[in-house]
Amino acid sequence: MMGASSPAARATLGRVLVSQQSIAERMPTLAREIVAWLGDGDDEVVIVPVMTGAFIFAADLVRLLPMRMRITLAAVSSYPGASTSSQGVRPIGNLPARLDGRRVLLVDDILDSGNTLNFLRKEFAAQKPARFATAVLLRKTTEVAMRTPCEFVGFDIPDEFVVGCGLDYDGCFRNLPDVRVLHPEGSAT
Ligand code: IMP
Ligand code: MG
Repeated sequence: MMGASSPAARATLGRVLVSQQSIAERMPTLAREIVAWLGDGDDEVVIVPVMTGAFIFAADLVRLLPMRMRITLAAVSSYPGASTSSQGVRPIGNLPARLDGRRVLLVDDILDSGNTLNFLRKEFAAQKPARFATAVLLRKTTEVAMRTPCEFVGFDIPDEFVVGCGLDYDGCFRNLPDVRVLHPEGSAT
């Protein structure tokens, strides 16, 4: 049970930045762009959702990609506990292997500092995939995020800390259907 004094219990939800409906409306277009990029090939596509935040976006996306694929999770940690700024990327367990010659799509919830995508892009490039691209549901419109290579972006959003649709604060709020601003200490919305 979440204690009353946990960071998540003290936080308050702010305004909706991206609604469930706008996500649902954006997904088919995004999926079509990805299908076009993947092109034809007899080899299986490998989809690599970054745990845990990508699980909802990836679940929506893969059901719109009508091809033979394998889904292999990559677990990394960059925001331990209740921190809201990047602490550096650390793989948890083994990263996906044997990507050589394959078409690989890395899927994450949000592009913020770019540390996660840059780290995984480098790890996976070393395995010489035939094609490699990244897709994120959200990208913050900061200079550093905008210059981080990322082929597919669902929505560009302002530089706010957000939760919902897979994104958490202190492990909570991933189940919210909309993407909303979070105020850690319960300040005004
Ligand atoms: P980056 O490595 O800083 O680009 O951030 C990537 C990861 O940090 C994401 O996969 C999220 O888990 C987390 N993150 C970044 N910004 C936010 C946010 O606004 N809310 C919740 N998690 C975030
Ligand atoms: Mg994450």
